[in-house]
Amino acid sequence: MAELHPSTLRDRLRALPSFPEPLPVLDPEAVPEDPTTLFATWLEEAIATGERQAHSFTLTTIDEAGLPSSRTLIIKDIDERGIQFSSNQGSRKGQHLGQRPVATMLFFWRPLGRQVEIVGEVTDLGPEAAALDWSQRPSYRGQDNPDWRLWALLPAEWTFLQATLDRNHARVEYRRHGTGWQHRRPVTPAG
Ligand SMILES: Cc1cc2nc3c(=O)[nH]c(=O)nc-3n(C[C@H](O)[C@H](O)[C@H](O)COP(=O)(O)O)c2cc1C
Repeated sequence: MAELHPSTLRDRLRALPSFPEPLPVLDPEAVPEDPTTLFATWLEEAIATGERQAHSFTLTTIDEAGLPSSRTLIIKDIDERGIQFSSNQGSRKGQHLGQRPVATMLFFWRPLGRQVEIVGEVTDLGPEAAALDWSQRPSYRGQDNPDWRLWALLPAEWTFLQATLDRNHARVEYRRHGTGWQHRRPVTPAG
């Protein structure tokens, strides 16, 4: 096994190129009232870059001891029920969601220097929706999978980040407010 030289690694990590130029600009004063509109625009723009798996995200769930666990998934669709994703009910994430139906979704689109974090409650969309999703998978060979589930995360909080080359990243957070949304710049420092 290669010996690890921490100082060499540290230097190499520091020297890695950061974001491509030019980066898009996020004006926190000019964002849409509805975060789903901003998200849909960013997703389309990420797809248009040609980046592989622009629809992938990190799903974090909470286990029975209260510890988080994360993995990469892909989104299947977005509608009034939330942002949809699918997996096996018997999986670790399936067990976590059965016990604590809350999660965080984290998208990172490297070519655009954009990140979106979405927190919310997760609902099971039922057997018919799951069966349809299962049958539309590229690997489907005509066999049913009763353990397959389609879930939707209904956003309660969103945090959008647009990276900037000077590291003064622009961020906007949205919180539910009555039947609509309120947005502002986060009060905590970006890093
Ligand atoms: C790009 C990518 C996309 C993935 N998409 C899915 C998916 O949509 N559903 C799924 O169950 N697993 C997907 N996986 C596998 C998961 O990351 C994970 O390993 C698996 O679901 C088991 O997770 P768990 O043990 O935490 O439940 C994907 C992995 C990668 C790298």
